Formats: sequence, structure tokens, C-alpha cells
Amino acid sequence: MKNLIDKVKTTAWSRADALKVRSDDPTTTQPLVGIDFPVMSDEVFIWDTMPLKKYDGNIVSVNGWSVIFTLTAERQPDVYTDAEGNYDIDSDWVNRHSRARICFWYSKDSKNWTFGGRVMADGVSPTTREWAGTPVLLNEQGDIELYYTCVTPGATIVKVKGKIAADGNGVRLSGFREVIELFSADGFIYQTEEQNEYWGFRDPSPFIDPKDGNLYMVFEGNVAGDRGTHVITSEDMGDVPPGYEDVGGARYQTGCIGFAVAKDAEGNDWQLLPPLITAVGVNDQTERPHFVFKDGKYYLFTISHKFTYGDGVTGPDGVYGFVSDSLFGPYEPLNGSGLVLGNPSSQPYQTYSHCVMPNGLVTSFIDTIPQSNGDYNGSYRVGGTEAPTVQIKIKGNQTFMVKEFDYGYIPPMENVIVK
Ligand code: FRU
Repeated sequence: MKNLIDKVKTTAWSRADALKVRSDDPTTTQPLVGIDFPVMSDEVFIWDTMPLKKYDGNIVSVNGWSVIFTLTAERQPDVYTDAEGNYDIDSDWVNRHSRARICFWYSKDSKNWTFGGRVMADGVSPTTREWAGTPVLLNEQGDIELYYTCVTPGATIVKVKGKIAADGNGVRLSGFREVIELFSADGFIYQTEEQNEYWGFRDPSPFIDPKDGNLYMVFEGNVAGDRGTHVITSEDMGDVPPGYEDVGGARYQTGCIGFAVAKDAEGNDWQLLPPLITAVGVNDQTERPHFVFKDGKYYLFTISHKFTYGDGVTGPDGVYGFVSDSLFGPYEPLNGSGLVLGNPSSQPYQTYSHCVMPNGLVTSFIDTIPQSNGDYNGSYRVGGTEAPTVQIKIKGNQTFMVKEFDYGYIPPMENVIVK
């Protein structure tokens, strides 16, 4: 493993890269989502969506049924701001993270989703919150491993095994009774809660490298070290123009895309590796990282927020990406800046948690849509449901927003017959 540690060429997403981020560029902006969207369910909110996939990244259906897992919480019918237009931080929607449960849905047409219920029964998951991860279909016996994050107390990357069965009536899950802890932050490469109460360590995305055939994982982390002690290096700065040297308090932004390798074929034993991407001085959160393998290249996508950028740099909520010829890097930010698909500035919070699939389709959820464009001081409608799927074209180190589909359209790339 020592040689693997040395092999990683960690790439800094630099402040100079981030200065190139342009909001409302039509090639990297998600179309406006209207306020008249349909909701998948009046009973639950969904947000982070995890399509069932294989370790090679292909999105699969099982016996003709498409399957997605979602972070899920009970919903109040519709939540708006109060009459004064205050953002109600205690609202049902905003506090959903604290009661997140992983549920599953299935569909014949990959867009009308039937609620399948919880994946794990009450009491199975050891912490108060079930946060994002990746469901992987292992074989034609219907074995699934769900990697996810156990949060509060702590933040631990775990997995739980179960089975899927599907017939003419629908899809059923069984098992998912024993949660296996894999790892948490170590304090040397990845920041711990002791080092920073706002640390992030979550969102496992395991995959098999198409070139070397080994099992790896990317996840969201922060760079180790006590909060406030990080130094913004010349690599973190990049080639900024004169007048852009002042970084203000940007040392508080320390997001990174974590990396680990499985020490066994089953992925029960993992070794932490150095991060593939760091965002020190740029952004505090590089969430839900995931790969697309295309044309012999490694496309690494991650979602991030406007509010987590450091002083002096900014960009929209959306999905960002990096490309390399080698899994181990170095990586180059897509489109020069890293921005792949951001929300339009008139509706900065319309969607989030984008997942780029190998066919170029990008799914996300609707967060909030203002009642009059751009006016977040007025009232807004909460989503908690799938956004329209869009398609991007990925070509070399560039991406282009090219097409819009139905709400929650997540078609399989492959059907697996499970007996
Ligand atoms: C992204 C995210 C994930 C996390 C989840 C918690 O939307 O912040 O990083 O697992 O939401 O609800």
C-alpha cells in the first residue's frame, strides 16, 4: 500500500481555477425549474438520490425495474417562508438532515417512482442519521451492498448487505440488518471532529478501476489539521492575477475528495490514501464525489455550494468536475474552472446533489424555487422531489449542457436478470 500512497498526485483546485467560474454561462448552467413542479410523494421529502449501480458505474435495472435509493424524511405538505420573508431555519425542510433515512423506490418507466419503504428497519443503523452513499448490485443472485454514512454521533463510513428481488408486482429488499463499520477520519490525512466541529467525512462512492481492476472509493472529507491552522500554499493559490493575492479568512475552507483502496476483494477492509483533490482556500465542501470513466479518462465529479466558498472566490450551487488520464492524478478542472453545471443566478437554490451518470444524464433534487424569480426574500416553494434530469456532453476537458428530460428520469444502462 505504501507505493499506492506515493502514487497519488493530489491536485489542488486552486483559487485561480475558481476565479474562472462564471455563473449563467449557458454551457454550464442548469435550465430554470418552474415553480409548478410535481412532487413524487405528499408524505415524504427526498433529496440525495442514489441510483442502483454496479461497481463499474453502470446504472442497472433489475428484472426490468429501475431502482433508486434516496435520503428521505417525512414532509409537511408545503413549506414557505413566513410573512416577513424570513428563512425559517427550523422548518421541516431545513432540519431534514437530522432525521434522514434511506428509502428505495422502483419504476418501470424510470420516471414514475413507487415508494418501496425503508432499506433498514428502525434500530439497525447505529447513529441518528442515515446519510448518503452508494448502493451496488454485486451479481445475478441479487446481492446488494449499500455503502452509506452513519452520522451523529461521529461520522463513519459503513456498509450493509442485503438482497433485491423483483417480479411483476414490484421490487422487494431483504436483509440489510447488519451494519459493518469501515472507517472514519484519521486526523492525519482527513480532519476529525476534534480538529474542527464543522468537519465533513461522508458520502462513500466505491468503484472498480477499469484499468487496474482494483476496488477503490472516493468520499467527502476535509484536509486534516486544527480549524484555522491551514496554510494556503502557492499551489492552492494558483496563478492569480495581480490584486487577487488577499485571501481573507479562506484558510477556514478545507474541503477535499478523499480516496481509499480496499485491502480485500470484498471491500471489508480499507486503507486511507491521500485525497485526489483538495480545495484548501477555495471551498469547504466537496460532497458526494463520484467517477465517470469515459474515453480512457477519469472524470471525477463532486457537488458544492455557494455558501461554502472561501473569501474572494464564489460560484453557484451545483456539480463540479475534474479529469485525468490516471486514477491517481494529477487532475485538471473541467472547463478550466471546475464548474460543470450550476444553478442559474436567478434561482441559486433550485437544485442540488447532482449525480452524473456514465450516459451523461445528470439527476438532482429540487431544493427551493422562489415565487418570483430571484426573490428569496419573498416566499418560495420547497421541493424535496426529483428535479428534471438533464444531459451533459463530456468531451476532453470540457462539458456542455445539451438536453433536458422529465422530472426524475433515471433510465438504466443495463438490465440484470435476478432469479
Ligand atoms: C448533500 C449532503 C450529503 C450528505 C447529505 C445529508 O446534499 O450534504 O453530503 O450525506 O446531504 O443530508
